[in-house]
Amino acid sequence: MSDSDTQVRQVGQLPEIIVRGGRPLRGEVEVEASKNATLPVMAAALLTADPVTLPGIPWLHDVDTLRRVLMSLGVSTERSGRDLTVEAREVDPFAAPEHLVRRMRASFLIAGPLLARFGVARVPLPGGCAIGSRPIDLHLKGLQALGADVQSNSGYIEFRAPRLRGANIYLDFPSVGATENLLMAASLADGWTVVENAAQEPEVVDLANFLNALGGEVRGAGTPELRVHGQDRLHGATYQVIPDRIEAGTYLIAGAATGGDVVVGPIVSEHIRPLLAKLREAGAVIEDAGDYVRITAEEPLQAIDVKTMPHPGFPTDLQAPLMAALIRAQGTSVITETVFENRYMHVPELRRMGADIKIDGRTALVTGTPHIMGANLRASDLRAAAALVIAALGAKGTSELSEAFHLDRGYYRLEDKLGSLGADIERCRCSEEP
Ligand code: EPZ
Repeated sequence: MSDSDTQVRQVGQLPEIIVRGGRPLRGEVEVEASKNATLPVMAAALLTADPVTLPGIPWLHDVDTLRRVLMSLGVSTERSGRDLTVEAREVDPFAAPEHLVRRMRASFLIAGPLLARFGVARVPLPGGCAIGSRPIDLHLKGLQALGADVQSNSGYIEFRAPRLRGANIYLDFPSVGATENLLMAASLADGWTVVENAAQEPEVVDLANFLNALGGEVRGAGTPELRVHGQDRLHGATYQVIPDRIEAGTYLIAGAATGGDVVVGPIVSEHIRPLLAKLREAGAVIEDAGDYVRITAEEPLQAIDVKTMPHPGFPTDLQAPLMAALIRAQGTSVITETVFENRYMHVPELRRMGADIKIDGRTALVTGTPHIMGANLRASDLRAAAALVIAALGAKGTSELSEAFHLDRGYYRLEDKLGSLGADIERCRCSEEP
């Protein structure tokens, strides 16, 4: 159990979220800046000694964890309100703290920038997590292609390269993190780098735009082929990251799951086109205004088939939340998870509520039933936790969610936002069973 869990889990106290279901969500909810864009941009700030200012970022657990990793490296950070300024003047590329890097996989995104700027880096191996082993082989292979000497020993990886040199890299899988690490490393390499079969997620595009704002030269972002012309140095910038498409999608799904009427924004609606298509298929009515989206739905939804894919396919991060909306749909939905090998940790918990779900390898058969009842539930990871809240909102009766700290990794004030939409939800510290 990492120390963040210890911090949050007071002795004899568990942070619980209690939901009394059956109320349709109605109203408007504000979308935060994207967690999965903020984290790589924070890491990329290591590429320059100049100040980098990121206005309006959400103070999520994961953002705070990466901020602490950067501070452990010697980076100065200043938070004022929702704005974060990062200045990587004096940096020790060997000082990444193991307990923080193991807590959050995205911390590994410091490897590329540290190596590119300082020629050396010592980074703890990130832990696996509930949704799979999550190796880093594609990160290492790409950095080696750029000329890095990579040594792994006793839980750390040590990288050395006096100067990275541009290379042609083919990614066996369009890994988001590997693409991001290589984009950052190539930005200070000598010459041109081509990354083929690159990730096309909007957060990767945002990182590329940020690198260009620093004076980098990244082309082709959002396509499978990225071209990067390495620079001798990069300068500072002020940069506003994109809205969080996964947070936005979660609230749209919650609106559909409760037969509600919810407006979500600001958002770049093209970033969640796959979700909007699936919600329409399920019978919801979507008003897409580009920078906000309104969803209305009658209960029950209609069963649909969903297959998660790298962008521009259906996002794996919304697989669990959407399943939670389909457990009360009319008919049987077929959900296939192709990105992670173990992203059905929410299924046993949904079954405790009466959901009829059969798992066969990477496929889940979800047969909708109106008899979904509140239950005591336990979260296993960030998006599974969101799914359990959505299921509880649509269920009859009361649900109590433990391990609710997972939500705080990626959802800013979730219970306040749902409460403002009319949900009967509260967070309390209930003493553990004796
Ligand atoms: C990013 O994780 C996101 N996290 C994840 O969101 C998201 O689920 C994932 O991309 C896929 O979209 C952040 O951006 C901080 P990957 P990442 O590398 O980069 C395999 C959330 O809930 N793989 O694209 O770790 C890997 O095992 C989080 O916000 C390798 O085999 O994802 C997985 O099966 C969860 N070797 C698949 O690729 C590697 O070297 C996708 O992983 C790297 C990855």
